[in-house]
Amino acid sequence: MKTIRFLMALVLFQGVFCPSFGQDKYIVDVKSVKAQIQPTMWGLFFEDINRGADGGMYAELVKNRSFDFPDAFMGWATVPSRQSYGRNEVFQIINQASVNANDPKYLQVSIAKPETVLLQNEGFGGVTVKKGLEYKFTLMCRERVAGLKVKVEVVNSKGSVVGRAEIPDQVRDDPEMNSGQAGPKRWKELTAIITPSDTTVNGKLVLRFEGAGKLDIDRISLMPIDNWKGKAQNMRADLVQKLADIKPGFMRFPGGCIVEGDDLNTRYQWKKTIGSLEERKLISNQWRDGGASGKAMPDYFQSYGLGFMEYFELCEDMNAEPMPILNCGLSCQFGAGEVVAEAEMDPYVQDALDLIEFANGPASTGWGKRRAELGHPAPFELKLLGIGNENWGPQYVERLELFTRAIKSRYPEIQLITSTGYTPNPQFKYMDSVLRAKHVDIIDEHYYQTPNWFLMNAGKYDNYDRKGPKIFIGEYACHSVRIGNPGNKNTMLCALAEAAWMTGLERNADVVTMAAYAPLFAHVKDWQWTPNLIWFDNTSSYATPSYYVQQLYSLNKGTEVVPLLLNGESIAGQDSIWAGAVVDRKAGELILKLVNPSGTAKVKSIAGVNGGKVSVTVLKGKPEEVNSLEMPELIKPVSSVMAIKGKELKVELAPYSFTVVKVKLK
Ligand code: AHR
Repeated sequence: MKTIRFLMALVLFQGVFCPSFGQDKYIVDVKSVKAQIQPTMWGLFFEDINRGADGGMYAELVKNRSFDFPDAFMGWATVPSRQSYGRNEVFQIINQASVNANDPKYLQVSIAKPETVLLQNEGFGGVTVKKGLEYKFTLMCRERVAGLKVKVEVVNSKGSVVGRAEIPDQVRDDPEMNSGQAGPKRWKELTAIITPSDTTVNGKLVLRFEGAGKLDIDRISLMPIDNWKGKAQNMRADLVQKLADIKPGFMRFPGGCIVEGDDLNTRYQWKKTIGSLEERKLISNQWRDGGASGKAMPDYFQSYGLGFMEYFELCEDMNAEPMPILNCGLSCQFGAGEVVAEAEMDPYVQDALDLIEFANGPASTGWGKRRAELGHPAPFELKLLGIGNENWGPQYVERLELFTRAIKSRYPEIQLITSTGYTPNPQFKYMDSVLRAKHVDIIDEHYYQTPNWFLMNAGKYDNYDRKGPKIFIGEYACHSVRIGNPGNKNTMLCALAEAAWMTGLERNADVVTMAAYAPLFAHVKDWQWTPNLIWFDNTSSYATPSYYVQQLYSLNKGTEVVPLLLNGESIAGQDSIWAGAVVDRKAGELILKLVNPSGTAKVKSIAGVNGGKVSVTVLKGKPEEVNSLEMPELIKPVSSVMAIKGKELKVELAPYSFTVVKVKLK
């Protein structure tokens, strides 16, 4: 059978029609339950890659808002220029790391004789605002010498003002802020609402300082008010809505490689991502080097405007299980692979214990109290925790042991996700056998492979050990060329190959309990990795064919796997069709998923189905077709209803299509 499938996969991509073998009738048995499907089965993988967070899902429009990039003026321009002779004292960066090491720098504006000076921010590839919507401008400010007025404007690419606001003179009226001769007392947050009279995609934020005086400013922000309306704050609504529309079973965060860091200094540390913005310490983003696009992005930093609190709340908004991943004491093993000395592992392990307390502890515990203070008294009910991202080798196993011992002795109910590294990984066999011998809870496997690989490996889990650890496919995506190639596209064929492979995950839901496509997001101009599930620019976004595959699986996940067989075998490539069946006992429905990645229409008869109304949803397109900002819905699912009589269903499977059929159970 294996040889036949191999030949079939080969001919499929030469556009040759494969003959069917034996009897061509599919038989479904809705009473014979093969596996339970976990509510977590289909989920999300979130990482700040391709501007996923800063410049993407995080709705902040100001880049380097706190002047804390290593080049404190990156993203900013001044008039007069700081380079003009005798004028560089007008705008000065003050570094006061001893006062707040997490937000050390601020800008001081000093004008001796009355005049107007400007400070401009270029945003993330331009400040983008939409006509008629409201934007909240925020400025942290401290007056040293009274007399400066602040006006704020959004200008378009030609420099014309499309929105403005005057910052009220609260500074001078507030005795606590206006210190007179005695020195400044405290910072104050000043806000204003800007409602643009026009849309601009390539604009700038301009602060005008008029008069004479001295002002300290920091944390300058411009945020749309029209953003995601859930508990999770400050997120771009169109992007989050697309995530919520998948109804994900879980969300894995915050990555990906950024968990590991280029080195241990730049690893992700959750405690530095919570609390007020001034407590969140900006660090470099590991993807600054450009990745597959080869385009270095020196301005790619993690501001942590989105941090662990926001991710937990987003999970809650979407009713998805939170799945944080923590650094395991190793930096990225594709790079230097720094290893924390075993004797210095305690803080890493403690971070994990503290995170569990932060997520689940009552407000009477230290970290539970912290969560409550941040506005969430109820626990997040964390159940899943990842130790390491793509880590491998004995150094990983030794460190995993430390985490496991400490966590399981206090929180045995927490399911730990363990890593086998990247794929294909020469160490996979070793990792898999070591982890199995240790009876770990869940093993994480990652697959970035070609269409052919996904089709040929749909049976991969059919023979996995049913009693061993559960499998989590923490990252996967079909790459049209090969991993790392900048020419990879989110084609229809890739989506079909994923859909076909997912029939195998679904069929083995007793072993594979969770899976997530990766990565989620990419900015069309600023990406380091391709393909991705959702692409966006500063104003809009589109879902790829792969997105619709994920959505169709998740919205139709069912509760139990039932057999759908051809000549007693699972349907995994015979006549170039991949198919599976589940039942949703709560909804009383049989759900069939059928993938036809060939160029020929097929009609399949399915026996064992009661007559009645049937809903059919089809995703189809030409194999090389993609969605785009210009044609965001070239490929999208289309639903219809049909009626069947008797006990046999005939479905037509269009060329290059994924079909989901739902039948009411009687
Ligand atoms: O999904 C993109 C990257 O692929 C992730 O950051 C990493 O875990 C994997 O190598």
